[in-house]
Amino acid sequence: MSVQVDLERAPDSETDLILLDGQVPATTIWPIAGGKGGTGKSTLTANLGVGLALLGYKVILVDGDLGGADLHLFFNQISPPRSLGSFLTSETRSLREVLLPTPTENLKLICGGNELVGAANLSYLAKERLIRHIRALDADYVLVDLGAGSSYNTLDFFALSNYGVVVCTPEPQARVDAYGFIKNTVYRKLRRRFSKSEQIKEVINQFSKQAGRRTGRICALVEMIGEANPQAGREAETLLSSFHPRLLLNRVRRRRHVDEVNRFLDLVWEYLSVKMDFVGYVRNDEAVLEACEKRRPVLLESPKASASRDLYNILMKGLRVPDRLHRFNSEEAGKLSQVAKNEARFW
Ligand SMILES: Nc1ncnc2c1ncn2[C@@H]1O[C@H](COP(=O)(O)OP(=O)(O)OP(=O)(O)O)[C@@H](O)[C@H]1O
Ligand SMILES: [Mg+2]
Repeated sequence: MSVQVDLERAPDSETDLILLDGQVPATTIWPIAGGKGGTGKSTLTANLGVGLALLGYKVILVDGDLGGADLHLFFNQISPPRSLGSFLTSETRSLREVLLPTPTENLKLICGGNELVGAANLSYLAKERLIRHIRALDADYVLVDLGAGSSYNTLDFFALSNYGVVVCTPEPQARVDAYGFIKNTVYRKLRRRFSKSEQIKEVINQFSKQAGRRTGRICALVEMIGEANPQAGREAETLLSSFHPRLLLNRVRRRRHVDEVNRFLDLVWEYLSVKMDFVGYVRNDEAVLEACEKRRPVLLESPKASASRDLYNILMKGLRVPDRLHRFNSEEAGKLSQVAKNEARFW
Protein backbone atom coordinates (compact mmCIF):
# COMPACT_ATOMS: atom_id res chain seq x y z
CA MET A 1 0.00 0.00 0.00
CA SER A 2 1.58 3.26 -1.01
CA VAL A 3 1.31 6.41 1.03
CA GLN A 4 -0.15 9.18 -1.05
CA VAL A 5 1.69 12.34 -0.20
CA ASP A 6 0.18 15.70 -0.89
CA LEU A 7 2.12 18.64 0.45
CA GLU A 8 -1.07 20.31 1.56
CA ARG A 9 -4.64 19.21 1.65
CA ALA A 10 -7.58 21.42 2.54
CA PRO A 11 -7.88 20.79 6.24
CA ASP A 12 -11.55 21.69 6.25
CA SER A 13 -12.57 18.95 3.88
CA GLU A 14 -14.03 15.98 5.69
CA THR A 15 -13.93 13.68 2.69
CA ASP A 16 -10.21 13.16 3.08
CA LEU A 17 -10.80 11.46 6.40
CA ILE A 18 -12.60 8.56 4.78
CA LEU A 19 -10.46 5.58 3.87
CA LEU A 20 -11.35 4.54 0.33
CA ASP A 21 -10.12 1.21 -1.01
CA GLY A 22 -7.51 0.99 1.70
CA GLN A 23 -5.90 4.27 0.63
CA VAL A 24 -3.94 6.05 3.29
CA PRO A 25 -5.03 9.70 3.52
CA ALA A 26 -2.49 12.33 2.52
CA THR A 27 -0.01 13.65 5.04
CA THR A 28 0.01 17.36 5.79
CA ILE A 29 3.42 18.77 6.63
CA TRP A 30 3.80 22.00 8.56
CA PRO A 31 7.37 23.22 8.97
CA ILE A 32 7.55 25.79 11.78
CA ALA A 33 10.19 28.50 11.46
CA GLY A 34 10.61 32.13 12.43
CA GLY A 35 13.85 33.79 11.49
CA LYS A 36 14.59 35.17 14.94
CA GLY A 37 15.68 32.94 17.81
CA GLY A 38 13.44 32.40 20.82
CA THR A 39 10.13 33.45 19.26
CA GLY A 40 8.44 30.27 20.50
CA LYS A 41 8.85 27.88 17.55
CA SER A 42 9.51 24.79 19.67
CA THR A 43 6.84 25.69 22.23
CA LEU A 44 4.25 26.10 19.49
CA THR A 45 5.33 22.98 17.58
CA ALA A 46 4.90 20.92 20.75
CA ASN A 47 1.54 22.44 21.63
CA LEU A 48 0.05 22.50 18.14
CA GLY A 49 1.08 18.85 17.89
CA VAL A 50 -0.69 18.00 21.15
CA GLY A 51 -3.75 19.98 20.01
CA LEU A 52 -3.95 18.16 16.66
CA ALA A 53 -3.68 14.82 18.48
CA LEU A 54 -6.49 15.88 20.83
CA LEU A 55 -8.59 16.71 17.77
CA GLY A 56 -8.21 13.08 16.74
CA TYR A 57 -5.34 13.15 14.25
CA LYS A 58 -2.26 10.98 14.02
CA VAL A 59 0.63 13.39 14.57
CA ILE A 60 4.42 13.13 14.35
CA LEU A 61 6.65 15.94 15.59
CA VAL A 62 10.13 16.17 14.11
CA ASP A 63 12.87 18.19 15.75
CA GLY A 64 14.53 19.71 12.70
CA ASP A 65 16.55 22.21 14.71
CA LEU A 66 19.84 20.49 13.94
CA GLY A 67 22.40 21.75 16.36
CA GLY A 68 19.88 23.25 18.80
CA ALA A 69 17.50 20.39 19.38
CA ASP A 70 15.25 20.78 22.43
CA LEU A 71 11.77 19.68 21.38
CA HIS A 72 12.12 16.51 23.48
CA LEU A 73 12.19 18.65 26.62
CA PHE A 74 8.48 19.38 26.22
CA PHE A 75 7.84 15.67 26.53
CA ASN A 76 9.92 14.99 29.61
CA GLN A 77 12.58 13.22 27.52
CA ILE A 78 15.84 14.33 29.03
CA SER A 79 18.07 11.94 27.17
CA PRO A 80 16.11 10.40 24.28
CA PRO A 81 17.04 6.76 23.59
CA ARG A 82 16.66 7.26 19.82
CA SER A 83 17.04 10.35 17.69
CA LEU A 84 17.65 11.78 14.22
CA GLY A 85 21.37 11.38 14.83
CA SER A 86 21.37 7.64 14.17
CA PHE A 87 19.24 8.14 11.05
CA LEU A 88 21.59 10.78 9.68
CA THR A 89 24.63 8.62 10.27
CA SER A 90 22.73 5.78 8.53
CA GLU A 91 22.94 3.57 11.64
CA THR A 92 19.18 3.41 11.40
CA ARG A 93 17.82 2.86 7.93
CA SER A 94 14.33 4.19 8.36
CA LEU A 95 13.11 7.32 10.07
CA ARG A 96 10.24 5.27 11.49
CA GLU A 97 12.73 3.38 13.66
CA VAL A 98 13.61 6.50 15.65
CA LEU A 99 10.01 7.39 16.49
CA LEU A 100 9.39 7.78 20.21
CA PRO A 101 5.98 7.36 21.81
CA THR A 102 4.33 9.93 24.08
CA PRO A 103 1.58 9.22 26.62
CA THR A 104 -0.92 10.36 23.96
CA GLU A 105 -1.35 7.41 21.66
CA ASN A 106 -1.60 9.24 18.34
CA LEU A 107 1.28 11.65 19.07
CA LYS A 108 4.84 10.55 18.32
CA LEU A 109 8.14 12.29 18.39
CA ILE A 110 11.41 12.28 16.46
CA CYS A 111 14.05 13.91 18.63
CA GLY A 112 16.96 15.91 17.31
CA GLY A 113 19.43 14.45 19.76
CA ASN A 114 22.47 16.18 21.17
CA GLU A 115 25.03 14.59 18.89
CA LEU A 116 23.90 16.79 15.99
CA VAL A 117 25.77 19.92 17.00
CA GLY A 118 27.97 19.69 13.91
CA ALA A 119 25.13 18.82 11.56
CA ALA A 120 23.74 22.31 11.01
CA ASN A 121 24.78 22.03 7.37
CA LEU A 122 23.70 18.68 6.05
CA SER A 123 25.03 17.41 2.76
CA TYR A 124 22.61 17.60 -0.15
CA LEU A 125 22.23 13.81 -0.18
CA ALA A 126 21.61 13.53 3.57
CA LYS A 127 19.01 16.30 3.34
CA GLU A 128 17.25 14.69 0.37
CA ARG A 129 17.12 11.38 2.24
CA LEU A 130 15.71 12.99 5.37
CA ILE A 131 13.10 14.94 3.39
CA ARG A 132 12.06 11.78 1.53
CA HIS A 133 11.59 9.92 4.80
CA ILE A 134 9.71 12.80 6.43
CA ARG A 135 7.30 12.86 3.48
CA ALA A 136 6.71 9.14 3.77
CA LEU A 137 5.89 9.13 7.50
CA ASP A 138 2.58 7.56 8.33
CA ALA A 139 0.67 10.43 9.93
CA ASP A 140 -2.12 12.91 9.25
CA TYR A 141 0.15 15.75 10.33
CA VAL A 142 3.91 16.04 10.50
CA LEU A 143 5.14 19.18 12.26
CA VAL A 144 8.81 20.07 11.81
CA ASP A 145 10.37 22.38 14.39
CA LEU A 146 13.08 24.44 12.69
CA GLY A 147 15.99 26.43 14.03
CA ALA A 148 16.38 30.19 13.97
CA GLY A 149 18.05 31.90 11.04
CA SER A 150 18.05 31.16 7.31
CA SER A 151 20.54 28.32 6.88
CA TYR A 152 20.04 26.24 3.73
CA ASN A 153 18.79 23.36 5.91
CA THR A 154 16.11 25.51 7.45
CA LEU A 155 15.06 27.02 4.11
CA ASP A 156 14.89 23.61 2.45
CA PHE A 157 12.88 22.08 5.29
CA PHE A 158 10.57 25.09 5.23
CA ALA A 159 10.06 24.42 1.52
CA LEU A 160 8.60 21.00 2.41
CA SER A 161 5.25 22.77 2.27
CA ASN A 162 3.84 25.93 0.71
CA TYR A 163 1.92 26.48 3.94
CA GLY A 164 4.66 26.50 6.58
CA VAL A 165 4.17 28.49 9.79
CA VAL A 166 6.32 31.53 10.59
CA VAL A 167 6.34 32.35 14.31
CA CYS A 168 6.91 36.01 15.06
CA THR A 169 6.75 38.06 18.25
CA PRO A 170 5.59 41.71 18.42
CA GLU A 171 9.12 43.20 18.55
CA PRO A 172 10.27 45.02 15.39
CA GLN A 173 13.44 42.87 15.41
CA ALA A 174 11.34 39.72 15.12
CA ARG A 175 9.38 41.22 12.22
CA VAL A 176 12.60 42.17 10.42
CA ASP A 177 13.91 38.62 10.86
CA ALA A 178 10.61 37.05 9.79
CA TYR A 179 10.61 39.28 6.68
CA GLY A 180 14.23 38.30 5.95
CA PHE A 181 13.34 34.64 6.38
CA ILE A 182 10.48 34.81 3.86
CA LYS A 183 12.66 36.74 1.44
CA ASN A 184 15.45 34.15 1.73
CA THR A 185 12.91 31.38 1.19
CA VAL A 186 11.66 33.07 -1.99
CA TYR A 187 15.20 33.37 -3.37
CA ARG A 188 16.01 29.79 -2.38
CA LYS A 189 12.86 28.52 -4.07
CA LEU A 190 13.56 30.49 -7.27
CA ARG A 191 17.21 29.39 -7.35
CA ARG A 192 16.26 25.75 -6.90
CA ARG A 193 13.53 25.94 -9.53
CA PHE A 194 15.93 27.37 -12.09
CA SER A 195 19.05 25.53 -10.96
CA LYS A 196 19.55 24.11 -14.45
CA SER A 197 19.32 27.42 -16.30
CA GLU A 198 22.55 29.43 -16.22
CA GLN A 199 20.75 32.35 -17.84
CA ILE A 200 17.99 32.64 -15.20
CA LYS A 201 20.43 31.95 -12.36
CA GLU A 202 22.46 34.91 -13.55
CA VAL A 203 19.33 37.15 -13.66
CA ILE A 204 18.51 36.17 -10.06
CA ASN A 205 22.11 36.74 -8.90
CA GLN A 206 22.31 40.16 -10.50
CA PHE A 207 18.96 41.16 -9.04
CA SER A 208 19.69 39.89 -5.52
CA LYS A 209 22.87 41.97 -5.42
CA GLN A 210 20.77 45.10 -5.83
CA ALA A 211 17.85 43.90 -3.72
CA GLY A 212 18.62 46.28 -0.88
CA ARG A 213 17.73 49.18 -3.13
CA ARG A 214 14.27 50.60 -3.67
CA THR A 215 13.83 48.69 -6.90
CA GLY A 216 14.23 45.38 -5.10
CA ARG A 217 10.62 44.25 -5.39
CA ILE A 218 10.35 40.59 -6.29
CA CYS A 219 7.73 41.36 -8.96
CA ALA A 220 10.47 43.25 -10.81
CA LEU A 221 12.65 40.13 -10.67
CA VAL A 222 9.81 38.01 -12.03
CA GLU A 223 9.44 40.49 -14.87
CA MET A 224 13.17 40.26 -15.64
CA ILE A 225 12.99 36.46 -15.60
CA GLY A 226 10.03 36.68 -18.01
CA GLU A 227 11.97 39.00 -20.33
CA ALA A 228 14.85 36.51 -20.42
CA ASN A 229 12.52 33.54 -20.94
CA PRO A 230 8.71 33.91 -21.01
CA GLN A 231 8.08 30.30 -19.91
CA ALA A 232 10.43 30.74 -16.92
CA GLY A 233 8.60 33.98 -16.08
CA ARG A 234 5.30 32.14 -15.90
CA GLU A 235 6.86 29.42 -13.74
CA ALA A 236 8.25 32.03 -11.35
CA GLU A 237 4.80 33.62 -11.11
CA THR A 238 3.18 30.28 -10.32
CA LEU A 239 5.85 29.51 -7.74
CA LEU A 240 5.11 32.76 -5.92
CA SER A 241 1.34 32.58 -6.20
CA SER A 242 1.25 29.07 -4.72
CA PHE A 243 3.43 30.00 -1.72
CA HIS A 244 1.21 30.93 1.25
CA PRO A 245 3.17 30.77 4.48
CA ARG A 246 1.17 31.31 7.65
CA LEU A 247 1.98 33.94 10.23
CA LEU A 248 1.50 33.17 13.90
CA LEU A 249 2.05 35.97 16.40
CA ASN A 250 3.35 34.80 19.76
CA ARG A 251 3.81 36.48 23.16
CA VAL A 252 1.23 39.17 22.45
CA ARG A 253 0.82 41.70 25.26
CA ARG A 254 -1.34 44.42 23.69
CA ARG A 255 -4.17 44.68 21.21
CA ARG A 256 -2.08 46.92 18.97
CA HIS A 257 0.44 44.09 18.51
CA VAL A 258 -2.25 42.21 16.60
CA ASP A 259 -3.29 45.34 14.69
CA GLU A 260 0.28 45.79 13.45
CA VAL A 261 0.15 42.44 11.70
CA ASN A 262 -1.74 43.81 8.69
CA ARG A 263 1.00 46.28 7.93
CA PHE A 264 3.52 43.44 7.98
CA LEU A 265 1.39 41.31 5.65
CA ASP A 266 1.02 44.27 3.26
CA LEU A 267 4.77 44.78 3.23
CA VAL A 268 5.41 41.11 2.46
CA TRP A 269 2.89 41.29 -0.38
CA GLU A 270 4.21 44.57 -1.76
CA TYR A 271 7.91 43.68 -1.75
CA LEU A 272 7.96 39.89 -1.94
CA SER A 273 4.71 39.18 -3.85
CA VAL A 274 3.87 36.57 -1.19
CA LYS A 275 0.36 36.34 0.26
CA MET A 276 0.77 35.35 3.89
CA ASP A 277 -2.15 34.10 5.92
CA PHE A 278 -2.45 35.33 9.53
CA VAL A 279 -3.66 32.35 11.58
CA GLY A 280 -3.86 33.99 14.99
CA TYR A 281 -1.98 34.93 18.11
CA VAL A 282 -0.93 33.49 21.45
CA ARG A 283 -0.81 35.82 24.41
CA ASN A 284 2.25 36.18 26.58
CA ASP A 285 1.36 33.88 29.43
CA GLU A 286 3.23 32.87 32.57
CA ALA A 287 1.56 29.45 32.32
CA VAL A 288 3.70 28.69 29.23
CA LEU A 289 6.89 29.20 31.22
CA GLU A 290 5.59 27.18 34.14
CA ALA A 291 4.68 24.28 31.85
CA CYS A 292 8.12 24.59 30.25
CA GLU A 293 9.78 24.20 33.65
CA LYS A 294 7.76 21.03 34.24
CA ARG A 295 8.72 19.76 30.77
CA ARG A 296 5.10 19.50 29.72
CA PRO A 297 3.08 21.19 26.96
CA VAL A 298 0.98 24.06 28.36
CA LEU A 299 -2.10 22.66 26.66
CA LEU A 300 -2.00 19.70 29.06
CA GLU A 301 -0.48 21.42 32.07
CA SER A 302 -2.98 24.34 32.05
CA PRO A 303 -5.81 23.58 29.61
CA LYS A 304 -7.70 26.71 30.61
CA ALA A 305 -4.79 29.17 30.53
CA SER A 306 -5.12 32.07 28.09
CA ALA A 307 -2.28 30.70 25.93
CA SER A 308 -4.09 27.35 25.70
CA ARG A 309 -7.35 29.04 24.71
CA ASP A 310 -5.50 30.99 22.02
CA LEU A 311 -4.03 27.74 20.72
CA TYR A 312 -7.50 26.15 20.42
CA ASN A 313 -8.59 29.15 18.35
CA ILE A 314 -5.52 28.97 16.13
CA LEU A 315 -6.10 25.28 15.48
CA MET A 316 -9.82 25.34 14.85
CA LYS A 317 -10.33 28.84 13.45
CA GLY A 318 -7.00 30.08 12.07
CA LEU A 319 -5.79 26.76 10.69
CA ARG A 320 -9.34 25.46 10.16
CA VAL A 321 -8.71 21.97 11.51
CA PRO A 322 -12.04 20.27 12.25
CA ASP A 323 -12.53 17.99 15.23
CA ARG A 324 -12.13 14.61 13.59
CA LEU A 325 -14.37 12.96 16.15
CA HIS A 326 -17.22 15.44 15.50
CA ARG A 327 -17.58 16.43 19.15
CA PHE A 328 -17.66 20.19 18.55
CA ASN A 329 -17.16 22.81 15.86
CA SER A 330 -14.81 25.76 15.57
CA GLU A 331 -17.24 28.11 17.35
CA GLU A 332 -16.87 25.89 20.41
CA ALA A 333 -13.07 25.59 20.20
CA GLY A 334 -12.89 26.19 23.97
CA LYS A 335 -14.34 22.72 24.49
CA LEU A 336 -10.92 21.38 23.59
CA SER A 337 -9.95 22.32 27.17
CA GLN A 338 -12.11 19.47 28.48
CA VAL A 339 -10.48 17.01 26.07
CA ALA A 340 -7.07 18.30 27.18
CA LYS A 341 -7.99 17.95 30.83
CA ASN A 342 -9.02 14.33 30.32
CA GLU A 343 -5.87 13.56 28.35
CA ALA A 344 -3.61 15.21 30.95
CA ARG A 345 -4.40 12.37 33.35
CA PHE A 346 -2.20 10.07 31.24
CA TRP A 347 0.79 12.40 31.33
N1 LIG B 1 3.17 32.64 24.68
C1 LIG B 1 4.21 32.62 25.51
N2 LIG B 1 4.13 33.21 26.72
C2 LIG B 1 5.18 33.18 27.57
N3 LIG B 1 6.36 32.61 27.31
C3 LIG B 1 6.51 32.02 26.10
C4 LIG B 1 5.45 31.98 25.15
N4 LIG B 1 5.91 31.31 24.06
C5 LIG B 1 7.17 30.95 24.31
N5 LIG B 1 7.55 31.36 25.53
C6 LIG B 1 8.87 31.17 26.17
O1 LIG B 1 9.86 31.71 25.30
C7 LIG B 1 11.06 30.96 25.39
C8 LIG B 1 11.52 30.56 24.01
O2 LIG B 1 10.61 29.63 23.48
P1 LIG B 1 11.06 28.49 22.47
O3 LIG B 1 12.21 27.73 22.98
O4 LIG B 1 9.83 27.75 22.08
O5 LIG B 1 11.54 29.41 21.25
P2 LIG B 1 12.26 28.95 19.91
O6 LIG B 1 11.79 29.89 18.88
O7 LIG B 1 12.04 27.50 19.67
O8 LIG B 1 13.78 29.24 20.26
P3 LIG B 1 15.09 28.80 19.39
O9 LIG B 1 15.17 29.81 18.29
O10 LIG B 1 16.19 28.90 20.37
O11 LIG B 1 14.83 27.43 18.88
C9 LIG B 1 10.75 29.78 26.29
O12 LIG B 1 11.22 30.06 27.58
C10 LIG B 1 9.23 29.69 26.30
O13 LIG B 1 8.72 29.16 27.49
MG1 LIG C 1 13.45 25.96 19.32
